[in-house]
Amino acid sequence: MTLMQTIPASESRVGALVPASSAWPELESQLAVPLLRVVEQAAIACALTRGRGDAPLADQAAVEAMRLALHQIPMRGRIVIGEGERDQAPMLYIGERVGAWAKERRGLEVDIAVDPLEGTNLCAADAPGALTVLAASERGGLLYAPDCYMEKIIVGPACRGAVNLDAPAGDNLRAMARRLNLGLDELAVTVLDRPRHASLIAAIRAAGSGVRVVSDGDLAAGIAAALPDTGVHAVMGIGGAPEGVLAAAAMRCLGGEILGRLVADTAPIESRLICMGIADARRVYCTEDLASGREILFAACGVTAGRLLRGVRYAREGVRTQALLMTAGANQIRFVETVHSAGRRDA
Ligand code: FBP
Repeated sequence: MTLMQTIPASESRVGALVPASSAWPELESQLAVPLLRVVEQAAIACALTRGRGDAPLADQAAVEAMRLALHQIPMRGRIVIGEGERDQAPMLYIGERVGAWAKERRGLEVDIAVDPLEGTNLCAADAPGALTVLAASERGGLLYAPDCYMEKIIVGPACRGAVNLDAPAGDNLRAMARRLNLGLDELAVTVLDRPRHASLIAAIRAAGSGVRVVSDGDLAAGIAAALPDTGVHAVMGIGGAPEGVLAAAAMRCLGGEILGRLVADTAPIESRLICMGIADARRVYCTEDLASGREILFAACGVTAGRLLRGVRYAREGVRTQALLMTAGANQIRFVETVHSAGRRDA
């Protein structure tokens, strides 16, 4: 049995607690634990490559383990965000059918977005913050986003509706400070350490706020910004669009907000967007555009030790993992500590 530490939604600032009498949504009741095991299995597999300096090997270990675990689940799954298009990626490609009943007309129909290893370089360097991640929804509930960059701003529940992707960073910070009842010098924003963010970092500092610069992992940073008492209040800057959809799924569960705009800065990306039927490349997507599902489930497991989750640990009784499991429909946020030992049930 997996032990789950549950934070009631009323305590987690997520919103109204689902009445005890209401039925659990299907995704939560049927697939929460199986999908939790998927991110755990992927984390255990790629943890063996930590610190080996081989990012492709780390990614491959996570992809293979995640795919194997997904295929064991009695569901009809479809990958909507994965390792790439079918001709580029042999496994977990966009459109791939996954699940034990993928070829039969049985089981829940589920759309799945995966990032088998978020922070491949972090895992290869055994640096903090690598995660295995997936989100699931009923069919059509997660945007099929192209593999390009996305300009993003991610904030927690208290700052929903206070920020604007087109506003200067200083204006957004002042609006956030009012909502949070904090001084500008008490706010911190996570930004990916990239040359493209030099002016953004300067603008945040000029407004009097702090910048937490990270080498990789804007998804984990976005989740941290939406959780209380993590010391960061927003993520700003340009990161991957697939990570933007996964962040939106997490925000649906946490009550936070992401605003995102695809970055169509090359001719091939522009034509890719046109092929995908995206007519307005300047469109600002909100949380519900990116993750519109009635039911949303989000699961992530720590690979390397990080601020959000502990990494995979090897103990005498087995392999220990720590994962985050959240659902939007049922408003549940769980941190799950599990011991995996060969030949025995998870404990
Ligand atoms: P991967 O490990 O999946 O490659 O992503 C790491 C990451 O830092 C993301 O968190 C972020 O959205 C993206 O890469 C940024 O891309 P780039 O490294 O090209 O700036």
